[in-house]
Amino acid sequence: MAGVRNIVVLTGAGISAESGVATFRGPDGLWEGHRVEDVATPEAFARNPALVQRFYDERRAALARVEPNAAHRALARLDADWPGELLIVTQNVDDLHERGGARRLLHMHGELRSAWCLRCNARVRWDGPLRDGPPCPACGVAGRLRPDIVWFGEMPYGMERIEDAMRPADLFISIGTSGAVYPAAGLVQTARWAGARTLELNLEPSAGSYMFDECRMGRAGELVPAWVDELLA
Ligand code: OAD
Repeated sequence: MAGVRNIVVLTGAGISAESGVATFRGPDGLWEGHRVEDVATPEAFARNPALVQRFYDERRAALARVEPNAAHRALARLDADWPGELLIVTQNVDDLHERGGARRLLHMHGELRSAWCLRCNARVRWDGPLRDGPPCPACGVAGRLRPDIVWFGEMPYGMERIEDAMRPADLFISIGTSGAVYPAAGLVQTARWAGARTLELNLEPSAGSYMFDECRMGRAGELVPAWVDELLA
């Protein structure tokens, strides 16, 4: 695409939907049967740690049953072949981007396969359950590991790196996100201030569609490979 060198991609739950990972805001407003406030806030964890640990243990275990789809693979191809700057910022806590092959990737809302020790502050790779209060591999203290997920009211990861990538960006693309959660939902504004062209790929119009230069509606598994082909042509 003429004049494009620096790209920032933002992804949300919609990119993993075709892999069989539930989105957050389904038609019933529930996330896998739970209200978001009951499983995705520090208050919920303080109130009922067993419920929250079990919820994320189930999500973590479910990763073994899903595979990256055509959209994840297309972004990985872009990552491998794009000669300019690129950052894929994902709100997703699954590991499908990296399993699809993406490298220039930032998990702004944390990762299911990471645990955070509230005793020594270490973040450690974690694949098993946390509900039985296992010891931290870094400090050895048991029962203080929590899911390394950014909950509502907590600061997303990597904001400085995201801002550094946004400043010189000349193309910003948002894929499969409802635009309901800030600061991710505000990145399209930042992109506009930076003078970037903005494109949205989503199943349906999002809360922020009106802010994009162009919106394409459809399934990520079809729209993303087609867009990557266009860009690399
Ligand atoms: P949402 O569930 O809010 O939105 C998913 C979007 O993807 C919706 O707009 C759907 O229409 C769209 N969608 C569904 N299937 C799709 C498909 N096959 N192809 C393309 N689009 C599709 O998820 P997010 O916007 O990612 O935060 O939610 C943002 C944050 O809210 C999450 O990261 C999470 C949540 O609470 C934390 O956990 C901190």
